[in-house]
Amino acid sequence: MQNTRAILRRVQRGILLGATFAMTTSDPTHDSEPTRRDFIHIFGTAATAVGAGAVVWPLVHQMNPDASVLALSTKEVDLSSVEVGQAIKVFWQGKPVFIRRRTAVEIEEAEATPMSALKDDNARNANLAGKVDASDNARTSSADGEAKPEWLVLVGVCTHLGCIPLGTSAGENKGDYGGWFCPCHGSHYDTAGRIRKGPAPENLPVPPYEFVSDTVVRIG
Ligand code: FES
Repeated sequence: MQNTRAILRRVQRGILLGATFAMTTSDPTHDSEPTRRDFIHIFGTAATAVGAGAVVWPLVHQMNPDASVLALSTKEVDLSSVEVGQAIKVFWQGKPVFIRRRTAVEIEEAEATPMSALKDDNARNANLAGKVDASDNARTSSADGEAKPEWLVLVGVCTHLGCIPLGTSAGENKGDYGGWFCPCHGSHYDTAGRIRKGPAPENLPVPPYEFVSDTVVRIG
């Protein structure tokens, strides 16, 4: 991208220099009748502009996202092998995403938590517009507005200073609230990924996602 910007800067500089050259070399005393020399300068400037356009167009065209780039912006994950009580970690746009298939007890705990007990009462769900209360229903809503309480999908980056919390792999410390624990400075997240204790200021964000079948989720 830096190379592209440098090339664009050079092209812009070329256009400006071309225009400046034409202006400064035109004889101001020949207002009405351009001389042959004026014509050559004007022609040269126009050619520079056309040349710049020819260079800029492919550059701009190259910057339009093609199908392969768009494909990279989403990720489909087959969840058919994830058992109740298990979680997996996948990567989407360079970030870890936790997908947990919650047990009935985990869902119950998350649903029973009053808003007053939350440090951050914002659902922080990219699938919901505006500020929505961080109820368990809102935390498990996908792009089609439907909540699937069994599945919790979160961006796995601690909202304090960006560590990756524990609690996804079997045997990892899930913290005091049975969700995730960030050992960097001691943040505890509950079974809906909401911050309950420690320095992290916000709930783990819910990325855009939707189920494309009963067992396949598309993130992004
Ligand atoms: S980065 Fe997670 S608690 Fe500090």
